[in-house]
Amino acid sequence: MTGMEVLVVGSGGREHALAIGLSESDSVFSVHCAPGNAGTSMVATNHNVPDSDIEGIVNLAKDLGVSLVVVGPEAPLVNGLSDRLRQESIPSFGPHSEGALLEGSKTHAKTVMQSLGIPTGRFERIDEIDSIEANLESFEPPWVIKRDVLAGGKGVTVTSSRKEAYEALRNGIETDGFVLVEEHLSGEEASVLVIMDESGYVMLPASQDHKRVGNNDQGPNTGGMGAYAPAPVATPSVLARTREEIVEPMHHHLRNSKIPYRGCLYVGLMIDENGAPSVVEFNVRLGDPEAQVTIPLFQTDLGLVLLAASRGNLSDVEVEFKEVHAATVVLASEGYPGDVISGRVIDGWDATIEEGQVLGFVHLAGANINDSGELISTGGRVLSSTGVAPSLDEALGAAYQIIEGINLKGSHYREDIGFRAIP
Ligand code: AMP
Ligand code: GLY
Repeated sequence: MTGMEVLVVGSGGREHALAIGLSESDSVFSVHCAPGNAGTSMVATNHNVPDSDIEGIVNLAKDLGVSLVVVGPEAPLVNGLSDRLRQESIPSFGPHSEGALLEGSKTHAKTVMQSLGIPTGRFERIDEIDSIEANLESFEPPWVIKRDVLAGGKGVTVTSSRKEAYEALRNGIETDGFVLVEEHLSGEEASVLVIMDESGYVMLPASQDHKRVGNNDQGPNTGGMGAYAPAPVATPSVLARTREEIVEPMHHHLRNSKIPYRGCLYVGLMIDENGAPSVVEFNVRLGDPEAQVTIPLFQTDLGLVLLAASRGNLSDVEVEFKEVHAATVVLASEGYPGDVISGRVIDGWDATIEEGQVLGFVHLAGANINDSGELISTGGRVLSSTGVAPSLDEALGAAYQIIEGINLKGSHYREDIGFRAIP
């Protein structure tokens, strides 16, 4: 046997993308997932341990003797999975719990940014219902209201309605004891995923997610309805400013922390009309669905890159990307991002496209195979249909060709993924 055994933690489309990327890496012999989904079971071995069971995952990693654990979602990182794995001398891709606070606490992230002079919106914390009105006065509409909890991208309200803003603030205070109100940033969003450790960092090609549920960015925020990469809004000059004003100071700060940050820092950017980037949010993991369009761009062996970052020798690896484009379109269950109806049969999901350099395939997320071999929806974001091609047009064409052939009662998807990049 040559190559390493790797354990991927999580069960979404991002983890399916990671499992595919790792299974195609020469450095990897086999991939395991906990708990995984129907998609990961096609390229890896699933283990029935939930990602919330920190000791269960640590024991699984020890039993399997894996050389690397790649943690997909944020919650296990905030809850100390990487800390525990490192105590057992198992390399883990994903920061320790203190590093993960950059996502676990928006207040902490803002405080760090302010102390380093990183561009981001002004914010206030509100604890008292009585002070809501005064705080609404001190910010211009539209108001941005954020619960400071892990909410899967759904804890944010952006509204020009004072009544809706008031309600969001009151609900937040009643549910969590406090809530944040933040200066509204205008411009175009992009996601820059940065793989880092104390030895160095690599900025992956920028991608762009579509956070609102409906076409033309209408409706409530979601975990993400589709993405593409590279995103042309991140011009060489925007990327140079992002590196200088955001990534360099964050890397300097994190490499000098007591425990170095080893994993992905997801920089959620707002780019204004002058090309000035500011930080909307940090996440401490790859994005979902950004991972589905970024991992296919790796030219360098993904397993080697993630192993190096999790051991602290990323600077020894030269990371290169393919000159291709990727796009992914999320299929969501009826009701998403609210209460979803799941347990329905999905047809047509196993179609693929392979025409010259144009590839199309499905990343599965909230879906599992039942005893009769049918694929059944189990969550809000069920799958995403992905195209990889020499041009963005062709990548989108492949993704839409596949998703149009998929049947799931009541499901919906956006028809305008990539619209900002297509003239
Ligand atoms: P977050 O959970 O902080 O990423 O926020 C989710 C989404 O809400 C972002 O991707 C933006 O689309 C929007 N958003 C958050 N903060 C702001 C802000 N300060 N100004 C404008 N839009 C924002
Ligand atoms: N797609 C947004 C996120 O992963 O947070």
